Amino acid sequence: MPVSVATFADKKRRGEKMALVTAYDALTAALVHAAGVDAILVGDSVAMVFAGHDTTLPATMEEMLYHTRAVVRGARNAFVIADLPFLSYQCGHDEALRNAGRFLKEAGAQAVKLEGGHDAQLVARLVQAGIPVMGHLGLTPQSVNRFGGFKAQGKSEAAAALIAEQAAALDAAGAFALVLELIPARLAAQITAAVRASTIGIGAGKFCDGQINVVNDLLGLSTGYIPRHAKRYAALYDQGLSAIRAYVADVRSAMFPGPEHAIGAAQESPDPSSVPEANAG
Ligand code: KIV
Repeated sequence: MPVSVATFADKKRRGEKMALVTAYDALTAALVHAAGVDAILVGDSVAMVFAGHDTTLPATMEEMLYHTRAVVRGARNAFVIADLPFLSYQCGHDEALRNAGRFLKEAGAQAVKLEGGHDAQLVARLVQAGIPVMGHLGLTPQSVNRFGGFKAQGKSEAAAALIAEQAAALDAAGAFALVLELIPARLAAQITAAVRASTIGIGAGKFCDGQINVVNDLLGLSTGYIPRHAKRYAALYDQGLSAIRAYVADVRSAMFPGPEHAIGAAQESPDPSSVPEANAG
């Protein structure tokens, strides 16, 4: 049975944890879908992980649509959630609706995600229009400049109360799920118990209804900082480095290509005069 927003509600009711990851391209989407993830987020983290920016802010609508299409092509029956990039939904409800709709209409996503808890009316408007919405509270990376860095949120009583209040408002507006990023586990547990929406944690402890992680962090396919809340299940960067180093060495020592990689009859030392056309510029 393909995953839908109903699956999120059913799994929450049954107490079954959901496992979500990000993906930005068709091959990775195929891989994580084959591994059985419940849903794939085309996160605006693509701007950092894929494009090498320091923050998620540079991600554009066109880039997010491009990556969402690739993910949908790679994992045909998966539940794909597309992240609304910075300033694509803070610009008035009409434009936000048009932008969000493009991800379903033009890219084949099933839902969108947006950050922040201050505009529950927008969430209600999108949901009413038939666009399932995942909210995102706590450390919302598009607000990194306001927070003064990628810092944990909800640590003071007042900050925790505000996040709990925003979670309730997004839930009432019809969000089917809420990402809770870098908030105390106790606060995440309290929100999880209070809302109908499925809470999907990242650095928010184990009491959420599910977890989400950036796929490159899980696979060890990155060069920079790995957040404390991520667990590395593989070391693909290190394996790739060894593999490409071996290839470079093989080429330089003429060990590659071998006779098994050549087309036509293998020759150890071809007579250069026998291939004049190939050598002529
Ligand atoms: O953009 C992203 O990848 C995200 C997840 C980390 C939740 O928002």
